[in-house]
Amino acid sequence: MAEFKQAPAGATMAQQFMTWVDNRFPATKLYTEHMSEYYAPKAQNFWYFFGSLAMLVLVIQIVTGIFLVMHYKPDAALAFASVEYIMRDVPWGWLIRYMHSTGASAFFIVVYLHMWRGMIYGSYQKPRELIWIFGCAIFLCLMAEAFMGYLLPWGQMSYWGAQVIINLFAAIPFIGEDLSLLIRGDYVVGDATLNRFFSFHVIAVPLVLLGLVVAHLIALHEVGSNNPDGVEIKAKKDPKTGIPLDGIPFHPYYTIHDLIGIGVFLLIFSAIIFFAPEMGGFFLEYNNFIPADPLQTPAHIAPVWYFTPYYSMLRAVTDPMVNVFAVVVALAAVLAVLKGGLSSTWKVAVLVGAAVVIAALKIFDAKFWGVVVMGVAVLVLFPLPWLDRSPVKSIRYRPSWNKWLYGIFVVNFFVLGYLGIKPPSDIGTLVSQVGTLFYFGFFLLMPWWSRIGEFKAVPDRVTFKPH
Ligand code: HEM
Repeated sequence: MAEFKQAPAGATMAQQFMTWVDNRFPATKLYTEHMSEYYAPKAQNFWYFFGSLAMLVLVIQIVTGIFLVMHYKPDAALAFASVEYIMRDVPWGWLIRYMHSTGASAFFIVVYLHMWRGMIYGSYQKPRELIWIFGCAIFLCLMAEAFMGYLLPWGQMSYWGAQVIINLFAAIPFIGEDLSLLIRGDYVVGDATLNRFFSFHVIAVPLVLLGLVVAHLIALHEVGSNNPDGVEIKAKKDPKTGIPLDGIPFHPYYTIHDLIGIGVFLLIFSAIIFFAPEMGGFFLEYNNFIPADPLQTPAHIAPVWYFTPYYSMLRAVTDPMVNVFAVVVALAAVLAVLKGGLSSTWKVAVLVGAAVVIAALKIFDAKFWGVVVMGVAVLVLFPLPWLDRSPVKSIRYRPSWNKWLYGIFVVNFFVLGYLGIKPPSDIGTLVSQVGTLFYFGFFLLMPWWSRIGEFKAVPDRVTFKPH
């Protein structure tokens, strides 16, 4: 057993109490290690708000969720009416519900911006690979959480959106039909589906999400935060104190800094809740104010905005698009054989591999490949630390044209998102096909393009302009 410390002579009651606690639980140690003596780089800009904002939204969702569950009924016959009851009869129920529904969209906005920051400052590069990987797992969980939560109000969009997405699993060869039956718990979306989605939404996924967020933060505090310069502050420490020269204590500097972000966020968040909670049908779709009717399919079914870029990629995969994939695979294999310094065994392996992929592309139908493309569009984020071969982290010191490339990536993501909301059209499909190829090209060709061009010299120390 560790030796008990004694409170210094003349200690106040509070100090004596803390000594008592510290002898049993490392409260002061945790506080100093993770707050007052956790040295974060100076010059972190507004992009660094979004991690703490994501934590705030997580708390908002959990707290409002707890109150919603007190009045919500997970029963296909009662669910829609119970939400209406929350909105009309439960004191402040409308506020709790709007906070939760707006919180869902806010979560994705904040997390997309947070991920984008990671991309432009190369925050996933060594030694932060695991922070990124935990982040990607969080993103997957968040998608599952939002998808299952959306079924609960049991409106037309809840019902038909779930029907469409679960049916997609049926496209998986051999196991698809059984898998979608397992997810639904019935031959159509029904009470069984609602009950299992409720259970996953309120407890299973949030538990995993919380665990992943803790792992994300432990990994972050192990290696320390990155900064807009991509300079490792631990490389230059004060020889006497061992404190990074460009580091400042997280508390009070970043706690105060983050409060500014939180203030601005809460202003916008409240404005939406009080003045535009439906956000023109983007945050709460109009069709979802109509109770679910298994006998009446809405004219146009679209997922909520945060899924639409991926939904567009799914719809982009038509038969001609599968042929384009086959040509791309064939070209890549031929290039690898002609250009790369591969041994003859590897050359044969590459050609056989490509032939197998092309055969598979032709055997299984486009719907299945659409599902694969949609899934891989998210999974491709995981290996980003190894796809990016740039010698520098931050976009500031990458070749200037990289800014254009990253800019087009964002525009492309928005265009895909927009097309995913709209009903399918010939031109829309064509644009989303080009967009899908660009999205995958961006990631899969990264090992090549991230190395080329003229890199700028990275400064030794974090650049800092006081304001
Ligand atoms: C519930 C969701 C999440 C929460 C609560 C969260 C929380 C945080 C916090 C508090 C930080 C430190 C402050 C900051 O750098 O902004 C951070 C850093 C980071 N997060 Fe997340 N995060 C979440 C999701 C994600 C996702 C989805 C990704 C990527 C796929 C990600 C990747 C990163 C990276 C790479 C860093 C280090 C950034 C740097 O040091 O430059 N996070 N996260």
